[in-house]
Amino acid sequence: MPDLVLLHGFPFDSSMWVHQLVGIRGHRVIAPDLRGFGSASLGDEPVSMATYADDVVSLLDELGIATVVLGGLSMGGYIALEFARRHRDRLRGLVLMDTKATADTAEGKAGRDKSIDAAQQKGADAIAESMAPKLFANDVEPAVRDSLLATMRRAGVPAMVAAIAAMRDRSDNSDRLAELGGLPTLVIVGSEDRITPLDDAQFLAEGIPGAELLVIEGAGHVPPLERPEAVNAALQRYLDGLV
Ligand code: MLT
Repeated sequence: MPDLVLLHGFPFDSSMWVHQLVGIRGHRVIAPDLRGFGSASLGDEPVSMATYADDVVSLLDELGIATVVLGGLSMGGYIALEFARRHRDRLRGLVLMDTKATADTAEGKAGRDKSIDAAQQKGADAIAESMAPKLFANDVEPAVRDSLLATMRRAGVPAMVAAIAAMRDRSDNSDRLAELGGLPTLVIVGSEDRITPLDDAQFLAEGIPGAELLVIEGAGHVPPLERPEAVNAALQRYLDGLV
């Protein structure tokens, strides 16, 4: 019965997995706050995708867990891919949600620098407001939208700045997907994801030998909150199939 560790996106926290924490049966579900977010402290060292990935290894060691299924949404998926590069021997499977293999383009990197300036000058609200129009499917429930936006507004600026820089500087994994062959991989994407759309998910699923692609209809960038029943059913089926 493999455990499932779920890594949140930017600039959310572990509360984005509330439905999975209570809804998955027969497997332990662990959703840490990434450093600086939620209740986790940022620390003093510079942060990269490798730092976040190594934090997950420390957590597994603390909990005495040898191997896990690692799932991540968006930035959490970038971290899961970095984890797979560094700690493949600790993986039982991968769940990549609303994320992508490619690095930022030059234009994307310039956009990250602008986001860092915006966060530093105007605070978390500026980031929440710039992301809000792209985050959800058109018919998202207002309570879901308002609750996630509140989480985003609560994020600390230093943690946001560190995460934006880490995303800007992340490695490109597109040429390394074939190395993940043999690792049971589920790729999930919301049909209306405007941040990491279907093309990105298809690229992942086609590049990872044996990966399964699942499109969650009526969800945007955050299917675990927008369509929790569909996501839980997919996770449950995938996890049960591993044992
Ligand atoms: C996320 O949801 O984690 C971010 O939007 C990902 C990104 O900005 O690349």
